[in-house]
Amino acid sequence: MNTDILKQNRKSWNTVADHFNGVDALPGYGPFAQSEDELRLFDSIEGKNVLDIGCGSGHSLLYMSKQGAKDLWGVDLSDSQIDRAQEILSGLDAQLYCAAMEEDIGLPEQYFDIVYSIYAIGWTVDLDRTLELIYFYLRPSGTFIFSWDHPLYVHLKSEDGLVSLNGSYQDEDSVHYANFKGEDAPMTIPKRKFSTYLNALVKAGFNIEQVVEPDVPHDLKDLEPEVSDRYYSLYKAQKFPTSFIIKARK
Ligand SMILES: C[S@@+](CC[C@H](N)C(=O)[O-])C[C@H]1O[C@@H](n2cnc3c(N)ncnc32)[C@H](O)[C@@H]1O
Repeated sequence: MNTDILKQNRKSWNTVADHFNGVDALPGYGPFAQSEDELRLFDSIEGKNVLDIGCGSGHSLLYMSKQGAKDLWGVDLSDSQIDRAQEILSGLDAQLYCAAMEEDIGLPEQYFDIVYSIYAIGWTVDLDRTLELIYFYLRPSGTFIFSWDHPLYVHLKSEDGLVSLNGSYQDEDSVHYANFKGEDAPMTIPKRKFSTYLNALVKAGFNIEQVVEPDVPHDLKDLEPEVSDRYYSLYKAQKFPTSFIIKARK
C-alpha cells in the first residue's frame, strides 16, 4: 500500500475540505448525474445499519438518517472532514472514524446491511483490499453501492466544446494535481479502467446487480446550455456521463 500517497492526500484533504461541504452527497451520486430520487438504487433503508466509506462532511449519512437508517457509521481519511461530519450529525448517534478505507481498523464483521460510497472509492490506493474489507463488513445479502468519476472522463479533453481523448485510457497509473481546487494541496488520484472496478468486485466475491452510467437529471435534460470546456459541465454531461454507479450484493 502506498502510504506516502495516503499521507499526502490526507494533508491536502484537510486543506480542501471547505470546497466539498455536502457537494458530493446523497441523494446525489455525482456532478450533473441523476440522483437517488430518480434512480432508486437503494433497497429499504429503514432500520438498517449503514456504513459510509469516505463519508466526507457527513451529509450522506444525514440523508440516511432521514430515510430511517438505524446505525450510522462513517470512515474518512481527513480529520477536517470527520470534524465537519461530527457537527452535521450532532445529536445523532453516529460512529465516525478518521482512517483510510484501505486499513482494517476493526470495524465489525457482517454487521452492515448497506455499505455505500459517494465519490470516494476511486481515491483508494488499494482497490482489492478496500473491496475485501467492505465484503467483510457486510451481512450476507447486504448491498454495496458506490459512485465515482466515469473512468474515461479524466481523459476527455474539451476545446470549444469539441471533446477528444487526452492521454491513454490504457495506462492505469495516476493523475497528480499540484494545486487541487487551486489550493496548496498536492493530490494523487489512481486511474483505473472500468473493467478494473468490475473485475475487482467479482474478485472480492460480489454479485454485480446494476451498473449505471447516469444521464443528467430529468429537469436538466432539455436545457440547452452554453458550450463549456469546464471539467464538469452540463454541456459535456449531456453527451457523456460524468460518473458511474454500481450496485453489488454480498
Ligand atoms: C468527494 S468527498 C466525498 C463526499 C462524501 N461521500 C459525502 O457524502 O459528502 C471524497 C472523500 O474521500 C475521502 N478520502 C480520500 N481518500 C480516502 C481514503 N484513502 N480513505 C478514506 N477516505 C478517503 C476524502 O477525505 C473526502 O472526504
